[in-house]
Amino acid sequence: MKALVLIGGFGTRLRPVTYAVPKQLIPIAGKPMLYHVLDLLPPSVDGAVLATGYKSEEIARYVAAHPPRIPVRCVPEATPLGTGGAMRNASSELSDPFVLLNSDVIAAVDAERLLAAQASHGGVGTMTLAEVDDPSPYGVARLAPDDRIVEFVEKPTREAAPSRWINAGVGVWRRAVVDRIPSAPVVSWEREVVPGLLADRVYGFRLDGFWEDAGTPARLLRAQRYLFDSGRGGRRSVPAGATGKGPAAVHPTATVRGATFGGWVTVDEGASLGAGAYAEDAVVMAGATVEPEAVVLRSIVGPGARVRSGHRVVDQVLGERAEA
Ligand code: GDD
Ligand code: MG
Repeated sequence: MKALVLIGGFGTRLRPVTYAVPKQLIPIAGKPMLYHVLDLLPPSVDGAVLATGYKSEEIARYVAAHPPRIPVRCVPEATPLGTGGAMRNASSELSDPFVLLNSDVIAAVDAERLLAAQASHGGVGTMTLAEVDDPSPYGVARLAPDDRIVEFVEKPTREAAPSRWINAGVGVWRRAVVDRIPSAPVVSWEREVVPGLLADRVYGFRLDGFWEDAGTPARLLRAQRYLFDSGRGGRRSVPAGATGKGPAAVHPTATVRGATFGGWVTVDEGASLGAGAYAEDAVVMAGATVEPEAVVLRSIVGPGARVRSGHRVVDQVLGERAEA
């Protein structure tokens, strides 16, 4: 079975760091978001197709240099085709059924049970649903008592949302659904295709564990905390030479001597935290420098960026080679 991973978005809500790095390659709990997403796949999935667009070459280069657990093939788009257009563009690579993943979702999904649910009800698809307080930024489903989806609205107003159960971005679909994607240049799967599939029976698979769309800075850091706390990245202790507490995922080429950790920190390749620097709830990307006595709290420090000595970076996203 194959998975299709939608990975072509611009990552606008994570700018400015996503001007340089596609959101899926931002390291959280020690490895890029994309690799945590691929970890969701059950053993019966033996390959993934990455529908790339924005920064497709960076993604192709990264996966070639760091082969994921299962083989991946990139299918790039010259211009963004939308989520539905991306599926149509990659359709020759898909299995029946196939797993459909958004590439920014960190969740405790039991994918084996999801596949079993699809096999047992015999409809055209099964969509994992998460319950959230405010469903308006997501695709929202209304369910019949047997969990069949009877209505699906993408990004409704809060008042118009038919429930609090939202598309978690992890589903399994029969291959025939791709024939229902219109041939327009840009197609939204959620807005233009899913509502029309409901008559052919689509079921919800309710999630009762953690779920987060890591597409904004605060949500990305929340996803990182979950990954650390659930044992899916990093370690509890800080590296030798540093003080404070884990969890922390520090790349072997990073320098952290004399720095203090406050927990839930990723320090990527070649980055450095100076003596007396403090980092908590943070991502310090490749080649970034946090100078002595500087503080990084609830923030993302972009590749090659510099936080000057004694400076405090709190609730911020610094872009590539930015100075603070
Ligand atoms: N290949 C390709 N081409 N991928 C795309 C394109 C495109 O034109 N546009 C978006 N994507 C990818 C993004 O990279 C992301 O992984 C996924 O499709 C979803 O896009 P987002 O931009 O993150 O959408 P969203 O978060 O607003 O909404 C989606 O996810 C929610 C759950 O997180 C929808 O699927 C909602 O229904 C869902 O609730
Ligand atoms: Mg998203």
